Amino acid sequence: MNIQNHSFLNAHMDWQRSDFPTNFEFGVATSAYQIEGSQFGGCGESHWDRYAAKSGNVVGNEHGGIACDHYNRWEEDLNLIQQLGVDSYRFSTSWARIMPYGKGQPNAKGLAFYDRLIDGMLARGISPNLTLYHWELPMALADKGGWCNRDTAYRFADFSELICSRYGDRVDRFATINEPWCVSWLSHFLGLQAPGKTSLEAAALSMHHILLAHGLSIQAMRSLNQRNLGIVLNFEHAQPADDSERAILATERHDAIINRWFLEAITKKQYPEPALEGLGDYLPESYSEDMDIIGQPIDWLGINYYTRQLIAHEDGCGFPATKTVLGPRPKTAMDWEIYPEGLGQLLPRIAEQVGADMPLYITENGLATNEPIIDGRSQDGLRLDFFNQHLAEVKGAIDKGLNIQGYTAWSLMDNYEWSFGYDKRFGLIHIDFETLKRTPKASYYAWQKSMQS
Ligand code: FCB
Repeated sequence: MNIQNHSFLNAHMDWQRSDFPTNFEFGVATSAYQIEGSQFGGCGESHWDRYAAKSGNVVGNEHGGIACDHYNRWEEDLNLIQQLGVDSYRFSTSWARIMPYGKGQPNAKGLAFYDRLIDGMLARGISPNLTLYHWELPMALADKGGWCNRDTAYRFADFSELICSRYGDRVDRFATINEPWCVSWLSHFLGLQAPGKTSLEAAALSMHHILLAHGLSIQAMRSLNQRNLGIVLNFEHAQPADDSERAILATERHDAIINRWFLEAITKKQYPEPALEGLGDYLPESYSEDMDIIGQPIDWLGINYYTRQLIAHEDGCGFPATKTVLGPRPKTAMDWEIYPEGLGQLLPRIAEQVGADMPLYITENGLATNEPIIDGRSQDGLRLDFFNQHLAEVKGAIDKGLNIQGYTAWSLMDNYEWSFGYDKRFGLIHIDFETLKRTPKASYYAWQKSMQS
């Protein structure tokens, strides 16, 4: 397929590359478990394989065994990125693929896969932007307590050292962890992702250990003189659902858990009071001794933004006694409210916290839509609107002087959307999960046009 000459759509974005600063970086993102296929190449079992295998955990009991078969089709996928015309590709390394037992002898086939992938990016002029951990914890470590076990943080530092020594000469930017809130709170308190735990103690331990893992990983990579090290945090614009004092306090707790816990640990070496009120008793006794490691300087911060949440007080349950209320705006196929101003309001707040000089990157932003392919075409106009509105907020923030250096769309292609299986399509490229055929959507061609001008 010659994408360059493919002009079936007149769809276009409201913006073009030249509206942004000269070195502003545009990219697309994916993650290992969501696209690669965990059944290939000697990949070890991860807690996602185990979680997905338990009936009822994932919509349709789907798993990432084959996913987009990217392990085998990576060349076609890199060609699509190259033809899209973006600058960088944010991908992740599967810990279970490289260290099937979480430690010890690495899997040579796994290491060779990422060699091919990174070299393939460089050959196509795409800047490799690597996330070390996007959620597929090796099952051998999960069996020993996973992120509730302090030792996992040290094993992650070893994994980081291996990845950095192997690929550091060819990778432009490293992130340690993708979305520590999802790794911990979403998966250990809300129970909505692997390992599906629902306890405050598990949440507090994992919230601390994932940060310790981040700090130890930064230390390990710094000792190898690696530059451009950061972390990717997810933020939500949180607002009280009503004017009551209880809703305002509930929002403070919610905001402290998702928007402040990880950011303040890294930037201030402390946890926010409204979250400590409920979690403090469950933290490891000497947690404060880890804060210097956690607060290692970073070189950039990644920001993932999707939606806002309206928060109300929830009666009759313990901490945090919050519940989310659906807002009035249009929703995506995830039922996430589309609220671009939330990004515009979060950015200055985050910048103030990390300091004006810290380079900020939007590392994920996008939406799920479920439009079908008709006559070989997918008209995902909603996706265009979404990108237009959010990029307008980013542009506004840059115009106000914020140091935002890049924007990465989630996602390159439809993929395994965790507990939602293959039902929620976030891609610029449609995947037929029966045939694994890739079909660029209208949004892909619109991005392509904007990248050329
Ligand atoms: C983020 C995840 C990413 C994807 C998007 C929709 O929280 O980082 O893997 O699931 O949401």
